[in-house]
Parts: sequence; structure tokens; C-alpha cells
Amino acid sequence: MIEKGTPIAPAEGRLGILLPGLGAVSTTFIIGVEAIRRGLGQPIGSLTQMGTIRLGKRTEGRSPLIRDFVPLASLPDMVFGGWDIYEDSVYDAAIGAGVLERPLIESVKDAIEPIRPMKAVFDHEFVKRLDGPNVKKGKTKLELAEQLMEDIARFRKEKGCARLVMVWCGSTEVFIKPEAVHESIESFETGLKANHPSIAPSMIYAYAALKSGVPFANGAPNLTVDVPALRQLAAERQVPICGKDFKTGQTLMKTILAPGLKARMLGLAGWYSTNILGNRDGEVLDDPGSFKTKEESKLSVLSHILQPELYPTLYGDFTHKVSIHYYPPRGDNKEGWDNIDIFGWLGYPMQIKINFLCRDSILAAPIVLDLALFMDLAQRSGMKGVQEWLSFYFKSPMTAPGLYPEHDLFIQLMKLKNTLRHLRGEELITHLGTEYYD
Ligand SMILES: NC(=O)c1ccc[n+]([C@@H]2O[C@H](COP(=O)([O-])OP(=O)(O)OC[C@H]3O[C@@H](n4cnc5c(N)ncnc54)[C@H](O)[C@@H]3O)[C@@H](O)[C@H]2O)c1
Repeated sequence: MIEKGTPIAPAEGRLGILLPGLGAVSTTFIIGVEAIRRGLGQPIGSLTQMGTIRLGKRTEGRSPLIRDFVPLASLPDMVFGGWDIYEDSVYDAAIGAGVLERPLIESVKDAIEPIRPMKAVFDHEFVKRLDGPNVKKGKTKLELAEQLMEDIARFRKEKGCARLVMVWCGSTEVFIKPEAVHESIESFETGLKANHPSIAPSMIYAYAALKSGVPFANGAPNLTVDVPALRQLAAERQVPICGKDFKTGQTLMKTILAPGLKARMLGLAGWYSTNILGNRDGEVLDDPGSFKTKEESKLSVLSHILQPELYPTLYGDFTHKVSIHYYPPRGDNKEGWDNIDIFGWLGYPMQIKINFLCRDSILAAPIVLDLALFMDLAQRSGMKGVQEWLSFYFKSPMTAPGLYPEHDLFIQLMKLKNTLRHLRGEELITHLGTEYYD
């Protein structure tokens, strides 16, 4: 356990952010940081850049910005690198992704055109809808992991980075369950040497990151680092890990609304969610294997928040459906529809409709920024293994084995801020508040 008021190493020097997958989310993130550095935009949606944290009593009036309260790397100290199966630079990939407007992309072209993807570790079996030329070759998965470790070391040296973090922004891989090969570091390494088919590319990146002492955050719903072998490796190497699946559009709405329904003891008969999405992510999710991974991630949220075992009358029998339809004309501008059948006093039914016209990568980019900064903070604070306090950012938060994940966005935020208070030796805020009336 990390001690209250623990010493935190200063955020000196450059922070390298390594991104497997230079697609819509990554390029929107990198260009966003460049644009913000140049005063061309604001870091809206980023807790590390815009959020404050209340300290002490309400009467004390102490609410510093989070970035002034804990030592975070600054945006000018960030450098970016990544891997992709396509050869496009960040500039070309951003134009292809169609998220940001062309003039903004052009205005930072000098910084983003030179960022070219390193050759990826890729296996078509795990992402059936894609194939690309920029892929590493190796006789075994261990050899591929070693090539990634060389990439990491080279990047660190060439860019003069004091520290690195890795955030998986690659495509969603097909659904797999933990198996014996994922059970221990030894079985995993034997599997790497033997090209075990259940070791996914994302796991090879995670392994390479952890072996290199680099914190790893997983933005997709893939199993990746959420297996005993890689948890053990993270603990052994004293490296923080977190995941899975950035909490952005529809699930963000769910974790905002469901806690409110539960707070008011309103019942739920059903929640029907559907989406249209036309970006490459949508295309990948059109494959049933990749969709299954996403579906599992999206479905778990409601039952954890609503706790049907505690409230069988209200939540014992609700129907929850989620579908995603690949619809190219929409590009990254997803549209989500939710129909929520609720019931109130004496069981009388009511309906809520949500029509969220969101922009997937605009919602995801600040999450990448916050995760990179907080994972770096965690590393400098001596925190290792699963970082549950970062559940706020994920659809399927990783937890200790046997522990159910906390999905309620507001509890997650309280957990995150209390962790920061704890790190800095401040009193935790319980919201009891009786002292004001003594
Ligand atoms: N945008 C969101 O709101 C959001 C929310 C939650 C999760 N995610 C997840 O984040 C990931 C990225 O989303 P996106 O919209 O940027 O998708 P995208 O398709 O635009 O980008 C993913 C990139 O990863 C590359 N890739 C695939 N496998 C790779 C590998 N093994 N190594 C290196 N590169 C690889 C692809 O070529 C592609 O360029 C997806 O898994 C998505 O499900 C996104």
C-alpha cells in the first residue's frame, strides 16, 4: 500500500508517450496537444488540465488545479511515438481519420508529419477486418517482443526521454478468455517462444512495455494486460498498469445516468442502446469477434452499478441490449440512441430517450492525455500493478482478482481525487460535513 504523503519524484525531463495504433484517437490526441501548446485550442475534457481539487474544509476555500496540486509532466515536455500496420505519418493518418478540420491539422504539420509509425506487431487472426504492410517479422512472438523492446529503447534514447508511458490505442482484438498460457510469467514466456495462438499482439506490446519498465494503459476492451502473467510482471517490475476500454460516448452516459436512477430508487425494465459509427474502429467492430470483446465491455456496466442482488425488485430483471452498426457516412461522428424503460411509484412505467450525437475521438483524446500523465505520476510515486483509482476513464476497469469493479462515474471521481489527496498527505474528503454544525 502506498503511504499517505508519499515522496513523489519530480516530473523533470521529457515524457515519451508511446501509442500502439496511430489511428483516429491517437492522432486526435497528438494534434490536440500540439494545438494546445500553440494556443490554438483548449484542453476541454481533460481533468488533469482543467480540473480542480478541493482540499480541507468547504470554508477554507482551497481548490487548486489538479496540475498544480500534484507534479505532472507539462505539455511542452511531451514527445510522441507509435506503431501502426499502415505507413501513414500522423499527419496523413489524421487526414484519413477525418476527425479534425484540415486547417487545424495543417497548422501543426511541421510537428506531426515527422511522426511515422514504427513497424507493428500484428496478427490478422486478432483483427480480421485489417491488413497492412508495416508489420514486423520474427520467428517467434518472443522475437517480436524483443524487437518492440529495441524500439522502446531507441525511442527513449533518440528523443532524450527521462520517462515513458504506453497507451494502447490500437484496434479492438477478437474476444479471448484467459487460459493456462496467461497464468504465470513462466507460462507466458514459454508461450511467447512457442508462438502460442492465444497470445495476442496487444499482449506482446504490454509485455515489452513492462519488461522495459514502462507503464501500460489499455484503451481498448482487449484482455491484453488483464491476465495474471502480466499483472505479476507489473508487480515484479514495479510498473503501473490500467485498463480497459476508454469510457467515452454511450457508456459514459450510462455511468452518469444509472447511478442517478439508483440513487432515487427508480426501477429499470430495460436499456436498449444502439449506435451508428463509420470510422475504422466501426469497421473493425463490424467483425463479430471484435464486437464480442466490445459487447462484453459495454454490458457489464449496468449490472455492476445497479446491483440487482441488493435490489431485486428494482433491477432483478432488466433487459440490456447493445449494438453497433458500421455506417461509413458518419465517420467518427457517432450517433447513439438509448431507450430506457424505467418504472416508479407503484411500478408505473416511464421512458427516457437519449440521442447522443458525439464525436468518438474528441471524447477519447483527453482521456489519453490524462492517463499518460497520471500513469507517469503513479510511476514516480512508487505505485505498481493495477491502478484502480483510474477506473474513472474505463468501461471495464481492472481490479484486484475477486473484486468487483466500481462503475459509478461519481464514485470513480471521488476515488481518483482521494487518491491524489492521499498521495499529497491531505485529508480525504468524506462529505460527512457535520463539523460545520458543531
Ligand atoms: N474513440 C473512442 O471513443 C474509443 C472509446 C473506447 C475505446 N476505443 C478503442 O480505442 C482504439 C482506437 O480507436 P480508434 O478510433 O483510434 O481506431 P482506429 O481504427 O482509427 O485506429 C486504430 C489503429 O490501430 C492500428 N492497429 C491495429 N492493430 C495494431 C497493432 N497490432 N499494432 C499497431 N497498430 C495496430 C490500426 O491500423 C489503426 O490505425 C480501438 O480499439 C477502440 O475500440 C475508442
